[in-house]
Amino acid sequence: MSAAYSALLLFALSGIVTDGYKHVIFMHGILAGPSEFDYFNQLVQQYRPGTPTTQVNLYNKLDSLVNMWTQVEKINGTIHSILTNTSSEGTVLVCFSQGGLICRALLATVQHNVQTFVSLSAPLAGQFGDSIYLRLLFPNYLKDNIYKLFYTNSGQDISIGNYWNDPKQGELFKNFSTFLAVLNNQSSVVNPKSHEFRDNFLRLKNLVLAGGPDDGVITPWQASHFGMYNASEVVLPMEQQEWYLNDAFGLKTLNFQGGIHTYTFPGIQHRHWHAEQKVFETCIKPWL
Ligand SMILES: *[C@@H]1O[C@H](CO)[C@@H](O)[C@H](O)[C@H]1NC(C)=O
Ligand SMILES: *[C@@H]1O[C@H](CO)[C@@H](O)[C@H](O)[C@H]1NC(C)=O
Ligand SMILES: *[C@@H]1O[C@H](CO)[C@@H](O)[C@H](O)[C@H]1NC(C)=O
Ligand SMILES: *[C@@H]1O[C@H](CO)[C@@H](O)[C@H](O)[C@H]1NC(C)=O
Ligand SMILES: *[C@@H]1O[C@H](CO)[C@@H](O)[C@H](O)[C@H]1NC(C)=O
Repeated sequence: MSAAYSALLLFALSGIVTDGYKHVIFMHGILAGPSEFDYFNQLVQQYRPGTPTTQVNLYNKLDSLVNMWTQVEKINGTIHSILTNTSSEGTVLVCFSQGGLICRALLATVQHNVQTFVSLSAPLAGQFGDSIYLRLLFPNYLKDNIYKLFYTNSGQDISIGNYWNDPKQGELFKNFSTFLAVLNNQSSVVNPKSHEFRDNFLRLKNLVLAGGPDDGVITPWQASHFGMYNASEVVLPMEQQEWYLNDAFGLKTLNFQGGIHTYTFPGIQHRHWHAEQKVFETCIKPWL
């Protein structure tokens, strides 16, 4: 009786010890910083007190305009031990806007333990639009001619240039984009690690894609769902993109595994994604 009881107690205790929480990492957007995710971190703590969380505190404000690979390398350096922890329950990445592309690159380059990647209004398939950021930062350019700046070697020093996706300049994109074209395995100089990138990406179990038509910055807004313009500026969905059809980085496989969860939220402006409780309830809470 008592031996059985203590065995049961031991079992219960060990259950408590090993049933840890996933580590939640929050990656902020362009021209912002870690405090962008204070509210969601607070909601995580209310729902699951003691959940380990990290709000990335690098490349804040104007520093967020630095080349994407430079950012990814340094950010990896600070969270690599979390992303590769083999004794934890894994990681949940919650990434906003440009931060979503930082996370895409981490998923491709690190042998990670990420269970779920929650992408909040991120230009995952690239950006092509006259956003307020573009008007402020590059007042002398418009979306139709800024490729002349971005699709150069020096233009690739700027984060926005790294994922600028001008649908009428496909060949220049492939020749110059050192970041998005490489992640999509579209670059003229083929990435020798493309298969490694895909294997790493497919360590992911779930991809949560949140975006909406009233975002106002991500253009087309469907880029948050991996949609993008074709050369006549018609938005084609993920399933019709070349890199989806040839499964260049694992998206098609993940979709066939049932791992992609897409949500459209009307009425949310770009600056408000991380301030909306319903976004937390729908896109983050079920994956903690
Ligand atoms: C990430 O950081 C770790 C630890 O600093 C390093 O060993 C690894 O090579 C880095 N990986 C990439 C892809 O940068
Ligand atoms: C790895 O996970 C274990 C179990 O959750 C935790 O105790 C440890 O602190 C984690 N290590 C790192 C570097 O996050
Ligand atoms: C892209 O690069 C190739 C190979 O260097 C070159 O032949 C081609 O003209 C370039 N395309 C453009 C639009 O510059
Ligand atoms: C873009 O897609 C639309 C709708 O499928 C199609 O009518 C149009 O021809 C396409 N444009 C190009 C350049 O492929
Ligand atoms: C990337 O593209 C190259 C050239 O087309 C191809 O050989 C390679 O298999 C592709 N990689 C993946 C992961 O599909």
